[in-house]
Amino acid sequence: MNAPGRFITAEGIDGAGKTTHLDAVEAWLRQRGHGVLRTREPGGTALAETLRELVLHRPMDALTEALLVFAARRDHLQQTIEPALAAGTWVLCDRFTDATFAYQGHGRGFDTGVLAALETWVQQGRQPDLTLWFDVDPAVAAARRSAVRTADRFEAEDLAFFRRVRDGYAARAGAAPARFVRIDAAGAPDTVRQAVLAALETHAATA
Ligand code: TYD
Repeated sequence: MNAPGRFITAEGIDGAGKTTHLDAVEAWLRQRGHGVLRTREPGGTALAETLRELVLHRPMDALTEALLVFAARRDHLQQTIEPALAAGTWVLCDRFTDATFAYQGHGRGFDTGVLAALETWVQQGRQPDLTLWFDVDPAVAAARRSAVRTADRFEAEDLAFFRRVRDGYAARAGAAPARFVRIDAAGAPDTVRQAVLAALETHAATA
């Protein structure tokens, strides 16, 4: 019987650069002999990817948004994440429930008590073992975003929205300090990558 895999998530406002750095995290884990499943939210299964398209591109209110991201999460956990962890594979997920608290909760102003209830129902106690929070000033992130892509429903939001989202991440990090590592994502990519690898050495090297 394999030891169970560990569950690592990456978070941060749009434009923080987390997706790029997940390549380095994956390489670091593989070098240590771990099987790695790279996935994302909303998404990670055929059904959840369909829900992602709706959430990112169709107009809807915050409760609908929250229900759809949690529906996607439920499918993703059951079909993909839980079986992988049980088989000893490490799961590297680009965003998870902290994003729901940050975007739907703080960004949209939706009731975080309801989100906490949905979290309990959907996750049945499952939480990431480690969350890398790529933290950057929302103005810096906005400049990075405008350079590279066409905006979806979230990326099109203003600076005030992303300030609230960032506050939401800070609140989640404050509530779960053992799980969160804040990475200063303002620097050059190489500097940020060094910080990510240092965080892994400290927090993920034991397994
Ligand atoms: P993102 O992960 O940034 O993907 P890409 O790099 O392809 O743009 O996009 C996902 C978007 O979904 C992001 O703007 C945050 C949003 N989101 C929520 O609002 N709630 C959630 O629970 C999750 C997981 C994501």
